[in-house]
Amino acid sequence: MAMEWEPGTLAAQALGRVEPRTGALVPGIEPATTFERDPDGGYRSGHVYARADNPTFRHAEDLLTTLEGGADSLLFASGMAAATAVFQALDPGDHVVVPKVMYWALRGWLFDHGSRWGLAIEPVDTTDLDALAAALQPGRTRLVWLETPANPLWEISDIAAAAELAHRAGARLAVDSTVATPVLTRPLALGADLVMHSATKYLNGHSDVIAGTLTTVREDEWWDRLKSVRARQGGIAGSFEAWLLLRGMRTLFLRVRHCCQSAQLVAERMAQHPRVAQVLYPSLPDFPGHAAAARQMTGGFGGMLSIRMRGGEAAAIATAARVSLWKRATSLGGVESLIEHRASIEGPGSPVPLDLLRLSVGIEEPADLIADLETALAA
Ligand SMILES: Cc1ncc(COP(=O)(O)O)c(C=O)c1O
Repeated sequence: MAMEWEPGTLAAQALGRVEPRTGALVPGIEPATTFERDPDGGYRSGHVYARADNPTFRHAEDLLTTLEGGADSLLFASGMAAATAVFQALDPGDHVVVPKVMYWALRGWLFDHGSRWGLAIEPVDTTDLDALAAALQPGRTRLVWLETPANPLWEISDIAAAAELAHRAGARLAVDSTVATPVLTRPLALGADLVMHSATKYLNGHSDVIAGTLTTVREDEWWDRLKSVRARQGGIAGSFEAWLLLRGMRTLFLRVRHCCQSAQLVAERMAQHPRVAQVLYPSLPDFPGHAAAARQMTGGFGGMLSIRMRGGEAAAIATAARVSLWKRATSLGGVESLIEHRASIEGPGSPVPLDLLRLSVGIEEPADLIADLETALAA
């Protein structure tokens, strides 16, 4: 399919590939774990063993590479498998800068397993470019990790400025862009070297696949190392998951655009509610990261927001208990809307305020979502 089509068009048709043998517009699922070797010992098919590669995940990877404007992508068994592969491709003693506010399980992994592996991990407020510049150690810092918007306060880090600082110090920049999706932000075009997604969220969009991805701006020795981490550790997704992911990605643009519009309506209504102390959503003009978000997010500010309750933790938990349409569940980016008292999921050491409810806005009618929240808040 001609690559000059818009990304949303390429996603809708999963790159427009037609199965050559049958003319099928939907790819088959390739379950094979092993592939025949040629009599001369070669592998003309390009496939050897499915821990390294498989045609079903290749199709999903190719679509994501196109959407992110990258050179290549790798599909992993989960977002955590993708993210931790990046840190495992570093050497003991390497200095890495990570955000203070980030996906809690990755923060936990870094300080537990990452430190034991010998990485020097420095948490920094990555929304503050002076703080980021001060933390970088030229020649020793190998990686700057950003998450933007960052879970669950939706803080915005400036990707272009961070890329410049990281590169000047000789470090690479990787961005967890799970919440922004390639519909709203293309980190590689802004200077990042690597983009990571929990494909479990918006890319799949139907809460029925756990998967993760990495996309690189260039194929180099570092990318070879990441491929080798995946192939040798075996943190690869299954063919059925890859196929479901590809099917989900066909509606990515529709879903994300709808979620952005609904999240905006929910945020505006919640901002006026007397029981809500604060709404955290990057589109709101008084949100601290609004200007940076407006620069690097195009077409919307995402489907994720948080509200802080005037009545504190008890009011937050009681409100979550009273909704009927919103589902009390962790995760995000699915078609169904989710509400979560985030601090009690993250546990001790979490920077999340106790009065905060995290909302993942799905594709239901926004009027229903607002009515359900208002009923829960009024009780
Ligand atoms: C921003 C972000 N990054 C990474 C992850 C980890 O992804 P997974 O659950 O697919 O391992 C999550 C999961 O919630 C997430 O929200």
